[in-house]
Amino acid sequence: MSNMVTHSATLQPVLDKIDATLDDSIARLQTLLNIPSISTNPDYKDDVRRCAEHVTADLLSIGLKASTHDTIGHPMVVATDDSAGPDAPRVLYYGHYDVQPVEPLDEWNTPPFDATIVEGKNGKRIVARGAADDKGQLMTFIEAIRAWKQVHGSLPVRVVILLEGEEESGSESLVPFLTEHKKDLIADTCIVCDTGMWDESTPAITSRLRGLVYIEATLHGPSHDLHSGGYGGAVVNPANALTKILAQLHDEDGRVQIDGFYDDVVEVSAEQVAQWNSLGDADALTLESSGAKATFGEKGYSTLERLWSRPTCDINGLRAGYIGQGAKTVIGATATSKISCRLVANQQPEQIKNALFAFLEERTPNGCHWDLKNFGVAPAIAVPTESPWLSAASDALTNIFPNPAVLIGTGGSIPVVGEFQEILGVDTVMVGFSLDDDLIHAPNEKFELSCFHRGILSHAAILEAYASIHV
Ligand code: BES
Ligand code: MN
Ligand code: MN
Repeated sequence: MSNMVTHSATLQPVLDKIDATLDDSIARLQTLLNIPSISTNPDYKDDVRRCAEHVTADLLSIGLKASTHDTIGHPMVVATDDSAGPDAPRVLYYGHYDVQPVEPLDEWNTPPFDATIVEGKNGKRIVARGAADDKGQLMTFIEAIRAWKQVHGSLPVRVVILLEGEEESGSESLVPFLTEHKKDLIADTCIVCDTGMWDESTPAITSRLRGLVYIEATLHGPSHDLHSGGYGGAVVNPANALTKILAQLHDEDGRVQIDGFYDDVVEVSAEQVAQWNSLGDADALTLESSGAKATFGEKGYSTLERLWSRPTCDINGLRAGYIGQGAKTVIGATATSKISCRLVANQQPEQIKNALFAFLEERTPNGCHWDLKNFGVAPAIAVPTESPWLSAASDALTNIFPNPAVLIGTGGSIPVVGEFQEILGVDTVMVGFSLDDDLIHAPNEKFELSCFHRGILSHAAILEAYASIHV
């Protein structure tokens, strides 16, 4: 993949090797994608382990030290390479080898664990669960490391790789593992490969992540389901009551009505907003990748501001009454909702969760009660943008892609970035190659082969760029 840029005599043969062996890299990605490592479903426990062992074996075959570590949940994979010598910077790479469930299965055009290459608008793409989130991404740095080792026999920096198997299911082992293995994981900088690009020609470094509060709220009314003729109008219908309460979560301007919700929100600077709005037509990209016919949201903010710097509250699931085929005249005994809030810098997740619980409790209809579950919270994160690591990574991306790298935010959450900061004291550079239309968490998830290829080339360039940073 030639660019106008001249690369060093050390880097160029690595890039050539990557180009020449791309088909092998794709085949290895396919093998990895075909292992159904769904972490949230206990039926797949053995597959998740098999996936960890497969990656460990692959890393060993490259010449890294690697092992699969048992945890209270799914295994962690840790690999190291010290061939650069004791004075070289040490870089921690993080990715997750677990994937989301595949339902609804009948919406997949090809089986989710039979990775298939198909033609798309940006050339060939690979379709499978985990293609972009996150197996295709973690393979970008693994393949870059493989090429370096093959060409030069050693790496330009010391490397430690941590691959998690519980990212999509709550990461219960993460903090204990980081705490216990702190001294083996400590590094000068970290790269997390779980984010996206601006568009297919424009690579990006992500500096802001939103946080998350996720709850389930079930409203209980009558002791059992009732005939809606015999009881409708006589006793409370939990489905009516729940939806009425949920409708009060937002006002007409799209502002969240939970008490104190915006108290700690920090407005981003005008410069920051201007930089984001100069990136391009975010509304067009959002409409195209979402298939929505109009954008929507809190009044007074652009789409990128709403996505990257404003908190939200969304119903992620609803279940009540009868939802099978045909009609059934029934008043269900309960109504359930799953609700999540995306949080921004400075909002306190525990406080928001408690305020959301209080919002519901205060509106409890006469004769009803709630069952409220908390699925965990994570704070929003901003990483420093003035760092030699970030600048070096940005330059390396710019030397590989047609367009220069840009600085972006994301609406998603990657709690590990905060844990690395807190437990290991290391700042992360988030570099990833997925696109907004990759359908992560959805049927027909895909990863563009051009993103995969350039992702590998970029990581090779980053390895070289990092070697000359003095720590
Ligand atoms: N890779 C995603 C996060 C992400 C999404 C980054 C979109 C950039 C763009 C990650 O695997 C994920 O799904 N995170 C969850 C976190 C949650 C389960 C704690 C999320 O954001 O919902
Ligand atoms: Mn991910
Ligand atoms: Mn995910």
